[in-house]
Amino acid sequence: MGNYNSRKKVKKAKQEKKEKCPDLEKEKEKGRLVIYLKKNKSTIKAVLLPPLGKLSHCPKTLSLITLPPGSTVNIFGRSELGSRRGEVPRPPQPFPSSARLGAGDGDIQKMRRILTLFFLVESDKAEGGDSLGSKNQRWIKLRQFGGADNAMGKVAVVIDNGSCFTRAGFAGEDKPKSVLKTTSMPPTCPAVMREIPCHLTAAGCGTGGARASKTHPLRHGIITDWEAMENLWSHLFFCGLRLSPEERPLLMTDSPSCPTTNREKVAEVFFEAFAVPALHVANTGLLSLCSCGRVTGLAVEAGAGVSHVTSICAGQIWREATYRLDVAGFFLSKHMHTLLLKSSNDPQLLYALQKTTVTQVKKQCCYVSMDYEGDLQDKAHQFPVCFKTPDGHWITLDKERFCCPEPLFQPKLLDQNSPGIHLLAFQSLQKVPDECKGDIIGNTVLSGGSSMFPGFPERMCSELDALLHGKGYRIKILAAPKRSMAVWAGGSMAASLKSFRHMWMRKGEYQECGAAYVHKKFN
Ligand SMILES: Nc1ncnc2c1ncn2[C@@H]1O[C@H](COP(=O)(O)OP(=O)(O)OP(=O)(O)O)[C@@H](O)[C@H]1O
Ligand SMILES: [Mg+2]
Repeated sequence: MGNYNSRKKVKKAKQEKKEKCPDLEKEKEKGRLVIYLKKNKSTIKAVLLPPLGKLSHCPKTLSLITLPPGSTVNIFGRSELGSRRGEVPRPPQPFPSSARLGAGDGDIQKMRRILTLFFLVESDKAEGGDSLGSKNQRWIKLRQFGGADNAMGKVAVVIDNGSCFTRAGFAGEDKPKSVLKTTSMPPTCPAVMREIPCHLTAAGCGTGGARASKTHPLRHGIITDWEAMENLWSHLFFCGLRLSPEERPLLMTDSPSCPTTNREKVAEVFFEAFAVPALHVANTGLLSLCSCGRVTGLAVEAGAGVSHVTSICAGQIWREATYRLDVAGFFLSKHMHTLLLKSSNDPQLLYALQKTTVTQVKKQCCYVSMDYEGDLQDKAHQFPVCFKTPDGHWITLDKERFCCPEPLFQPKLLDQNSPGIHLLAFQSLQKVPDECKGDIIGNTVLSGGSSMFPGFPERMCSELDALLHGKGYRIKILAAPKRSMAVWAGGSMAASLKSFRHMWMRKGEYQECGAAYVHKKFN
């Protein structure tokens, strides 16, 4: 009798196990998050399968709910109805037609972010849904609603908004497909109106007819003219990438010192006006680290309109450890012109120099000195070079070569009373817990066009070394040759990761929670 009972128990356990895991392994392989509902009289059992196979055991029963066919279930974060992982599921409870079903701590807690999908229980058969397991098990995978989710499987678009250049391309690629001068706002072109591609160049739109007008929609990395930016983004989508924004999820960059309200506005614009299926807004500092395969480190960004230093630990950004410096490429180009006007070259020739030529001089001839005061005093430490202007004239540079980028380290040379970029980096490091400091300073990542000056990485290292002397930290500066594109490349890398799936803010989440949800969703 005992034998018969134990066999019966084993059989029952096997049957239960079979019932609990409908093709679980297959789903885990795909890294999918799926909700299964089991109909049993009037009770529906909701089972959550985690994404990325995070839980190695059988799915956890989140709660037992009574749900009449035809109800809309809004699965959305924590609620008093949900049972915690490991707890005994609560007995069946009445479930309103649109109520919250939640999860507890740990892995399931992490999943809360993605649980803003809408499922519709249409009938026992879950019309439109796929059945899993045999019919008598009656495990039903419910259909996800909304076209947005079809677009989620596609490669994401990555856009890096810069004060000088806006770069757009596809996740997983090593460089952006389309780079547009942010300052040359393209005119509204007929191609965009008709949703056909035009020939877009860095200077603007090729088929629009009208010339691009000069504006500065981004100042110090912060969007100030939204209309101009929307126009620019339209061009990037339709003419640069040649696709409609509804087709792909979008990762957008955000300057570290941007007011957080900017992110809300970005969500509003992209979900409302561009109808993207999903959005992620990422800090440029974090993306710079990502481009070097790091999530911990010190991001030192020197771009065109602004420079920043940001300490980041395990992907966590400390706002109070973020410092902004208003010395960057635009100001250095202007400074270059001022320095040239004081040089021994023909003043008439210098006054006639185009801005683009001055920028070329800066990029080709300048370097960061390891000993500014010493080199300034000693002529033997100044190495003259000649530069040929586009109209065939020659200009000579000597000390201007290292005087131009020096304001990055001594902003007072541009009448700014901010500390230099190395001191800001040091201050940023002071704001993080002691146990993180070593890891952060050991992964100092340079990014942005203005970090490309020869000698910049070495000077940064020697200045930090002097500031941290005797503290026992090992300073390591990561200066990739393509670091002027590091932010875009980091975004491309991050958005192509499978694990990035739960980082998207989906259209449904936006509709449900509004633009303010960006603060919960993004770091
Ligand atoms: N090789 C180089 N040497 C010095 N400066 C350079 C070099 N290449 C580019 N720059 C400068 O870098 C700036 C552009 O940098 P970047 O593309 O990182 O800026 P951005 O992303 O458009 O702006 P920001 O991030 O500041 O909003 C320009 O001012 C350009 O003159
Ligand atoms: Mg930038």
